[in-house]
Amino acid sequence: MDILPNFIVFEGGDGAGTSTQLNLLREKMEGRGRRFFPTFEPTNGPLGRVLRSALEGELTLKGETLAFLFAADRNEHLYGPGGVRERCREGAIVVSDRYVPSSLVYQGIDCGDELPQRLNEGFPAPQILFYFELDPLCALERIQGRGKQDLFEYREFQEKVCRRYQDILPRYRDAGVEVITINAAQPIETVAEAIWKVIAALL
Ligand code: TYD
Repeated sequence: MDILPNFIVFEGGDGAGTSTQLNLLREKMEGRGRRFFPTFEPTNGPLGRVLRSALEGELTLKGETLAFLFAADRNEHLYGPGGVRERCREGAIVVSDRYVPSSLVYQGIDCGDELPQRLNEGFPAPQILFYFELDPLCALERIQGRGKQDLFEYREFQEKVCRRYQDILPRYRDAGVEVITINAAQPIETVAEAIWKVIAALL
């Protein structure tokens, strides 16, 4: 597994707070004199938009089709103009809310290990992977507070998600990725500080 230096990824089950933390990190990075590029998957690009409508239930697609679309969206995200690879090479710190591990976990549950593994094996690994660990029941309570629920946001699925992350994280560790587990049940500010300690060391 090749590692892409300066690339950092946030992962976790739904409702674990990765998007909130990415926004907080963006604020903390302002005026630090180091370029910072926060980003996310599914992206805002055309394929990401198709994915979001499938996640929101406006469109019904087979699990395998989703696996292909997530990988295709990722390919643009990484290698397209102004994409992750280009920015990392320019020396920016790039932090993505979700990446390959989400496909290995979610599509692995949905359509088996083989397809998502094959579609994602060529993508580089991040330098640092933050795993937001949160009990699925607690996560689902947070999600229910938001009103509408997406395709994968139900209990049995999220319990599998938790277990699968535990299965795949050691692979990243063995490949030389810095894997950091964050207790996402802590207050938002405590989580933000734990993340900041790691990021500040890179500056
Ligand atoms: P999420 O970051 O939770 O988006 P939002 O909170 O804005 O709705 O991601 C959307 C969903 O997509 C989430 O349930 C995980 C799923 N997902 C996959 O199934 N495979 C992938 O490869 C990625 C990137 C996301």
